[in-house]
Amino acid sequence: MSDKKRVAVLISGRGSNMSALIEAARASDYPAEIVGVIANKPGAEGLVTAGHNNIPTAVFSLKNYADKAATDAAIDGQLQAWNVDIVCLAGFMRLLSAEFCAKWEGKAINIHPSLLPAFKGLDTHARALDEDVSEHGCTVHFVTADMDDGPIIGQVAVPVEFGDTPGILAERVLKAEHKLYPWALAQVASGAITFEDLKD
Ligand code: GRF
Repeated sequence: MSDKKRVAVLISGRGSNMSALIEAARASDYPAEIVGVIANKPGAEGLVTAGHNNIPTAVFSLKNYADKAATDAAIDGQLQAWNVDIVCLAGFMRLLSAEFCAKWEGKAINIHPSLLPAFKGLDTHARALDEDVSEHGCTVHFVTADMDDGPIIGQVAVPVEFGDTPGILAERVLKAEHKLYPWALAQVASGAITFEDLKD
């Protein structure tokens, strides 16, 4: 029996961070395997990529359930069915319920395109340019009920360069995300970094 941690990735769109995790998990010494991908939209492009990699997928749209709690309970049921140990949010553009976050505390992580606590929420690259910061970047953190707020596992800074547009800056940050997320998942899956160690 493998002692790799079983990971589900939650996405809403393109899924390039999901792909970076799938790629990293191919290494025999990587401490995690991707056992399922969940999207909140049937059209999420990353579902196709997951399928090409023979990874099971499932879609849970809010509109098919009574409310958010019922949707998140269905997601939780799928995670149990896949026997998931760790949940990776990777461009999952919906807040999960407080109940879900409490249940998965210390076992759910998220990637956010800013150097948290700066620029929580959306449009981080445009906001960083508006504020004329010299450095921007990305963060992987444990998920808590408050948006983009849990204990920080790791960050990578990138320079903001003259002439950057939100799109150009986003590309530079995304390259850093694709390195940071596999590293961060490995830290959590191996037990090198825990929620208990980081929480105050
Ligand atoms: C990434 O920048 C991620 O940090 C943010 O949304 C984007 C998702 O990109 N939350 P992808 O779907 O992983 O390509």
